[in-house]
Amino acid sequence: MRYAPVFFLLGILSLIAPVQAQVFTRDMQVEPLIASAGDPVRGRVIVASRQTGLCLLCHSGPFPEERFQGNLAPDLAMSAAKLTAGQLRARIIDPSRFDPKTIMPAYYKTENLKRVAPKFAGQTILSAQEIEDVVAFLVSLNQQNVQ
Ligand code: HEC
Repeated sequence: MRYAPVFFLLGILSLIAPVQAQVFTRDMQVEPLIASAGDPVRGRVIVASRQTGLCLLCHSGPFPEERFQGNLAPDLAMSAAKLTAGQLRARIIDPSRFDPKTIMPAYYKTENLKRVAPKFAGQTILSAQEIEDVVAFLVSLNQQNVQ
């Protein structure tokens, strides 16, 4: 019965896992955060927005109308070409899972954050729907690349 404690722990984990909103499998979160499908058109607006997404502060992407784009992070079209929807979603939800020292904010995380102003405590940067919209937009870039 050497393995009994391991099975016991796995049993407990399998009870806990379903109640967690974010279930990562390896390096991806396959399950969308919300049942309604993401809208790539809204996602594009969020990514380009200087108020909500702020992605172009660090990233570049296929946005001919945006003059100033970041060069601190990979081009979003390149990332979309190599990552699945689940991998993209996981990196937007919480990039610190992949690099604890990353400068990229965790867009859907409320715990273990540093330097959060009290009025924003307990809030995510983007809503579940907005995360899905951004993922849908990035995935649509990939399809455009393939065609
Ligand atoms: C403050 C800078 C910053 C902002 C803002 C930012 N990112 Fe990032 N992002 C990075 C950096 C730097 C990386 C490279 C990996 C790392 O350091 O985490 C990265 C990595 C990624 C990756 C993985 C790329 C790859 O090829 O592996 C994705 C996808 C991504 N970001 C999407 C986004 C989206 C979508 C937004 C906006 C909602 C955003 N990022 C906002 C800095 C940023």
